[in-house]
Amino acid sequence: MQSKTTRMDPPTVPNNPEDESRIIVRGGRELRGSVRVGGAKNAVLKMMAAALLSKETTVLRNVPNLTDVHMMAQVLRHLGAKVTIDKDQVAIDAKDVHDWEAPYELVSHLRASFVVLGPLLARFREAKVSLPGGCAIGERKIDLHERGLKVLGCDVRIDHGYVTASAKQLVGGRIYLERPSNGATENIMLAAVCAEGTTVIENAAQDPEILNLAQCVNEMGGNIQGAGTYQIVIEGVPFDQMHGAVVDTIPDRVEVGTFMLACMATGGEIMIEGANAHHLYSVIHKIQEMGAEVALYAPDVIKIKCDSRKFRATDLTTLPYPGFPTDLQAPFMPILAIAEGTSIIEETIYENRFMHAAELRRMGADVVIKGNAAVVKGVEKLSGAEVKGSDLRAGAALIIAGLGAEGVTEVTGLRHLDRGYDRLEDKLRSIGAEIFRR
Ligand code: EPU
Repeated sequence: MQSKTTRMDPPTVPNNPEDESRIIVRGGRELRGSVRVGGAKNAVLKMMAAALLSKETTVLRNVPNLTDVHMMAQVLRHLGAKVTIDKDQVAIDAKDVHDWEAPYELVSHLRASFVVLGPLLARFREAKVSLPGGCAIGERKIDLHERGLKVLGCDVRIDHGYVTASAKQLVGGRIYLERPSNGATENIMLAAVCAEGTTVIENAAQDPEILNLAQCVNEMGGNIQGAGTYQIVIEGVPFDQMHGAVVDTIPDRVEVGTFMLACMATGGEIMIEGANAHHLYSVIHKIQEMGAEVALYAPDVIKIKCDSRKFRATDLTTLPYPGFPTDLQAPFMPILAIAEGTSIIEETIYENRFMHAAELRRMGADVVIKGNAAVVKGVEKLSGAEVKGSDLRAGAALIIAGLGAEGVTEVTGLRHLDRGYDRLEDKLRSIGAEIFRR
């Protein structure tokens, strides 16, 4: 089969020209009330890609309204799928998917779209996907994806910025991941769904989003066992036995964490609805250790109570799940910045995820970066400033800093924030924050 060269239309995703819009926060307002979190970005994007694994329609529910979701819809439409987004539901009709090439113009907007590689291989035994490249937080290599796909019998080549993979036949095999990469686990798992025989992924990523993805594939007729643990076993099924499904997206644990930290920044008491506390033990443990009260109010409602805005300093190390998540490292820093004592943050997942530190310093934080560690000496208070979020979680960190700071903070770089948070400022305003977008 020969891949078509298709002329790209410019993406119709609403793109915030980053320097035009800003979020303005006046600090010092306690948070009180209830706020509902949406579905997990890092689960839904992969489940959208998994919809390519059948010729029928897959419906995803509890989908957040994020620019990344719209961008992934563009990628799937480019491949020939019909994607309909209606409130919090996305329907993907994959009957007419005819193309197996995801071009740079699309993949460069959304690294997560690299995960179409696995399902395209399962479906066509052939795929050509642009290399996503590095990003503001690190190099983000793909060597583990490549090695895993080779074990399944793929010929994988990297030329001219593209990964081209093909196989006469995909055959199951045993793959050990040197580190539990989410992306590699997902691509290998999705390629193996329709391979002949059994595939075993050892040292797989154990994140809840991987489990959600496996549940989605199983609802579509696949056979994946062990997802959510270090060993995933995939029994291949023929592609023509795969079918559509209706699947619920799990709650976004990073959004839950963001609200807990926002409450710590301001003091007060909030209920976070639609949450799953089981996914957040490492974070809840740290928050409790620092002195805030966290309780399960109902099975899916977390209550956090902060009698003051001053907490004890603590050290944290980012680790693969179930360790402390790198995606909440930046949002945690402004809380440590005004804690009593000195904290050390060690970032072990990415090489360069401390860009927010320089912006927090502009707000008065005392942070020194030494290699992959940040030494944060608690100061009395932060003061509002104009700051810029260099990536999604850095943007959230600066908003949290602004909520607790004296005076007004203006955060730009919202193009990144809107990739992963659905109306963050509206939700914060609904629980008492003085925050708006201009
Ligand atoms: N890595 C390799 N080789 C590989 C793959 C990964 O060395 O073949 C390295 C990466 O360079 C990185 C580390 O392993 O340093 C972790 O990479 P992983 O593959 O686990 O991350 P990912 O799948 O690219 C997802 C999330 C990230 C989240 C990480 C870690 C999505 C769309 N992204 O990325 O989310 O930080 O897992 O949990 O699922 C975010 O939401 O803000 C975000 C960055």
